[in-house]
Parts: sequence; C-alpha cells; structure tokens
Amino acid sequence: MTIGIMGMGYVGLPLAIAFAEEGHHVIALDTDARKVEALRRRESYVEDISSERLAAAGDRIEATTHAQPLARCDAVLICVPTPLTANREPDLGPLVSATRALAGVLQSGQLVVVESTTYPGTTRERVAPMLEESGLVAGHDFHVAFSPERVDPGRTDYTLRTTPKVVGGLTEACGDRAVELYELVCDEIVRVATPEAAELAKLLENIFRSVNIALVNEMAILADRMGIDIWEVVDAAATKPYGFMRFDPGPGMGGHCLPVDPFYLSWRAREFDMTAEFIELAGKVNQNMPYHCVARIERVLNDAAKPVRGSRIAMFGVSYKAGVGDLRESPALKIIEVLRGLGADIVYHDPHVPEVTELGLYNTGFDEALDGVDLAVIVTAHPSVDHEAIVARAPHALDLRGVTRRRASTAVQL
Ligand SMILES: NC(=O)c1ccc[n+]([C@@H]2O[C@H](COP(=O)([O-])OP(=O)(O)OC[C@H]3O[C@@H](n4cnc5c(N)ncnc54)[C@H](O)[C@@H]3O)[C@@H](O)[C@H]2O)c1
Repeated sequence: MTIGIMGMGYVGLPLAIAFAEEGHHVIALDTDARKVEALRRRESYVEDISSERLAAAGDRIEATTHAQPLARCDAVLICVPTPLTANREPDLGPLVSATRALAGVLQSGQLVVVESTTYPGTTRERVAPMLEESGLVAGHDFHVAFSPERVDPGRTDYTLRTTPKVVGGLTEACGDRAVELYELVCDEIVRVATPEAAELAKLLENIFRSVNIALVNEMAILADRMGIDIWEVVDAAATKPYGFMRFDPGPGMGGHCLPVDPFYLSWRAREFDMTAEFIELAGKVNQNMPYHCVARIERVLNDAAKPVRGSRIAMFGVSYKAGVGDLRESPALKIIEVLRGLGADIVYHDPHVPEVTELGLYNTGFDEALDGVDLAVIVTAHPSVDHEAIVARAPHALDLRGVTRRRASTAVQL
C-alpha cells in the first residue's frame, strides 16, 4: 500500500516508520522544509526514532513538501498540530490548511484518517465537508475516520504495535477501511461507532491525566504548608492494591498534549451550555505550579540569607519530561522567566536541549553549571544526569521531582 502522512512530527514520523517497516510505501509530507530535508538525509529529529531505523526504511519513505504525491496514496493520515490560540481557544489553522491541500488532490477510493487530537465533531463537521469541496462525497466516494494517536514520547514498554488503537469511522464502511489499515501496524484495534466517540475517548484519556496531576499537585502544596512529606504520602497511598492510581507531583504540565487538549473540550462544551469545571480547575492548579516552585526557590534562598536578585541558580533539566528534549509548554521556561524577572542569574544543564532560543540560553556543561552556584534546582530528572552529585556539590539544592529523596539527601523537596 501507499500511505500518505501529513505532519512528520512526534506522531507522524513513528507512524511512517511503522508502515515502512511493514513494507509499505510512505509519502511523508511536512510544510517544514528543514524536516523534509532531514528525512531525505535519513536524519531523525525525534528521540524515539533512531537515524539507523530511518536509514533502514530507505526509499520506502518519500519525503516531500508538496501535496500532489498524496494523489497516489491508498490512505492519508493527518498528524498536524492542534494548538491553542493566544486566547486559549482551539486553533484549527494547521488542520484546515492540511485538509484543504489534501482536498485539492483527493482521489476516489482513498481513506482519510485524522490522528490529531481535537474536539468531538471536528472530523464530521470540519474535515469531511472541506474534503468534499473536491466534488467527491464522504462515505461514498472516499472514506473518513478518526483514530487518535497515543504515542508517549520516551516510552519503551509500549509501542505503536502493542498499544491498542481506537478507530471510529464516519460510516460502517469507513470504519472497516480504517480497521484494515491499522491492522497492518497494530495488534489490537478498538472500534467505536463514530469519529466523535474516538475524538472524545482521546480527550478523556488526557483530561484524566491532567485532573489527577492537578490533584496530587494541590496535595503537594497543602502537604508543604502542613509540613508533611508528599512523597512519603504518595508512596504510602500507592501500596493500596486497588482503587488508587499513582500520580507524582511536579513543577507543572508540559508538552503538546496535556496543557492544550483539555481546552479543546471545554471550548466545545460551552456550545452545549456546559462549563467543564474539572478541566478548568485542573488547568488552573497546574498552571500555578511553576509559581509555587518559584516560591519554594525563594524560601530556600531566604533560609540561606540570600535574595533571588543576583543569586546564581542552576536549573537541571528544562524539557517538559525526562528523557526527551521537547520544550513545548515546559514549566521550566515559566520558572526561569519569573526568576529572571526577579533578578536571578540563571544557567541550565540539559543533555537533551542544546539551547532555549526564546530565553537566549545555551546548555552549560554539568560541572560548569555547578561552578559558583548558589542553588541547584532539579526541574526535570533526566536518567543520564547524576542527581546525587548535584546535591553533593551545590551549596543548596531543591528537588522538584523527588528523585533524590530516598538517599538521606540534603536536598529540599518540592
Ligand atoms: N506528541 C505527542 O506525544 C502526541 C501524542 C498523541 C497525540 N498527539 C497529537 O498529534 C498531533 C500532532 O502532534 P505532534 O506532537 O506530532 O506535533 P509536531 O509539532 O511534532 O508535528 C506536527 C508536524 O506537522 C507539520 N505541519 C504543520 N502544518 C502542516 C500542514 N498544513 N501540512 C503538513 N504538515 C504540517 C509541522 O511542521 C510538524 O512537523 C497533535 O494534534 C497532537 O495533539 C501528540
């Protein structure tokens, strides 16, 4: 088969590799010419995909910035970003432009699947009508479905193949076609009756995480005021063999999904005279976490009789998540911005992030970051970094991830 993939990012590239490794031909489309060039050089820019794997896929992945080759595909998967506008409303701009480009080359008999996370109704009310501007009829001349991506960057225990794939077609036939397609690369397909059910299932998964992270973060703030060790509390609660699922406190939510996707649903809910209160509340609590972390930093410095102004603070780990270099919505950026506003001198060490362009900061070597430092803050705990050494060498350390807590550490915990 020939599979088209629009948007070759964290979602699109692993899908392209999966289909290519099964012997299918992939048209890999991205509007970012640098990504297309990198793919042509067989250089991966996504941590979970090695350049060797990309090279092994060889000519089966054909990278392009043009929509025309999509006309040759049996199926086209749309994996473009679905961000929020400055007013935190859904920004369907990339999805609309990808769909319009596809409509221009759409062929009878093709299957189109939306993988981008979005609100219930997008596939039926926005994507299908735009594709029909081609003159072809959805569900009749071509098939349309929604199938959410569940990739978790950095995870190795579950892969695309071993993670069940939810699929909802516009019609019965659309669902059948989409199931057949994903059976090529996934062991288990979970079929739901409509695209709306599949769209909402993805949002439920992400909102579940967002709400539970907010809950444990709120507990962490309260435990801090009460003088109780939140990590000990979470460890203890997590020994319950049923009815409890562990979530760890931290500096806030990051990445492209959790800080963004829930607001697609709360926006849509307003049309149905509903205020999605859990979503809004979780967003509020999680957005406040970087400010709570700044308050903790101020307290640690205060205990050492130092003001924030003029203090040299080394941040360890600035990406949003351990083991990956993704900076999107990373709480570290907000913490740095606020501390700089207070006059702190910030350096950072993160083996996954060579520079933070928007803050004009570059990765500092591990030793150099600790040189003359007043406070070291573990913001994101990459497995390759020696956190014990940070605590041993810095005059003061604050651990926002609880990674040093077990070893009679002198670091202050979140
Ligand atoms: N990253 C994740 O862990 C994850 C997990 C599940 C779902 N998702 C969802 O999948 C979607 C994609 O996320 P991502 O993390 O892969 O984003 P990404 O930014 O890594 O990749 C998206 C790619 O789409 C390209 N693009 C933008 N507009 C385009 C257009 N009109 N035509 C073709 N390409 C275009 C961009 O240049 C970029 O390379 C989002 O809806 C996201 O919510 C992401």
